[in-house]
Amino acid sequence: MSARKKITVVGAGNVGATAAHWLAAKELGDVVLVDIVEGVPQGKALDLAQAAPIEGYDVALVGANNYDGTENSDVVIITAGLARKPGMSRDDLLKTNADIVGKVCDEVVRRSPNAILIIVSNPLDAMCQVALKRSGLPKHRVIGMAGVLDSARMRCFLAEALNVSVENVTAFVLGGHGDTMVPLPRYSTCAGIPITELLPKDQIDAIVKRTAGGGAEIVSLLKTGSAYYAPSAAAVEMTEAILKDPVRRIWKVSMA
Ligand code: NAI
Ligand code: 2OP
Repeated sequence: MSARKKITVVGAGNVGATAAHWLAAKELGDVVLVDIVEGVPQGKALDLAQAAPIEGYDVALVGANNYDGTENSDVVIITAGLARKPGMSRDDLLKTNADIVGKVCDEVVRRSPNAILIIVSNPLDAMCQVALKRSGLPKHRVIGMAGVLDSARMRCFLAEALNVSVENVTAFVLGGHGDTMVPLPRYSTCAGIPITELLPKDQIDAIVKRTAGGGAEIVSLLKTGSAYYAPSAAAVEMTEAILKDPVRRIWKVSMA
């Protein structure tokens, strides 16, 4: 039997804690949840552990305010940092989150030199650059989560417009996670047919615009923070692909 996998999630806020939930539910490995706020990672890990008998998952869940338990993690998901509030752009988070992500990388890589880092903190593409430089890891081991999320948002909107299952829809979104996002309708399909043959241009244009503003739409609704169910699901989907290698799945990721 192969050794149990270990996944560290740094930041036990909305994205991190929800990622821990998906990771446990999918039994992808033991989970260590780290945050600077005393009690929060411990409390959330304990709560998730107590859900295990009900949900029937069997993994170890630990919360901590330091990195001692993170040694030899296979994957580290970094969600630590500030999240957007209404009126803030992802770039407003730049300086604070660069400091946080840099320090997190120091702690993580010292203890898990073979880990793959999945960066979530915003502004995403810049944080990948910070993590790559600071960690000293090769670039294929520092990957950013955004393309999976942005494509999922577009798939969701397309499935709704076409009145079909999301399973039948693919969407292709390239570019940065922000204003430079590039949803590509002619490479987006329903049951293999390009959506440009199925939907009028004005409707496609509206979906492209809504996809690019997908994060801001949720910020404006939540008012106190940003999206976390789909972002955490996306990070966990990437973790699953890494841990179940070789699956040869193709993901759109951010690489510095
Ligand atoms: P949140 O505010 O709910 O959680 C962030 C957590 O990080 C807090 O619990 C905080 O205590 C913790 N933290 C702060 N400094 C830390 C440090 N030095 N070490 C460990 N933990 C630390 O925010 P949320 O909603 O979980 O978002 C997290 C980040 O992910 C934000 O930067 C957000 O913009 C970004 N994000 C990125 C997405 C993407 O597509 N790449 C999608 C959604 C969010
Ligand atoms: C999102 O796209 C805020 O980057 C975050 O939901």
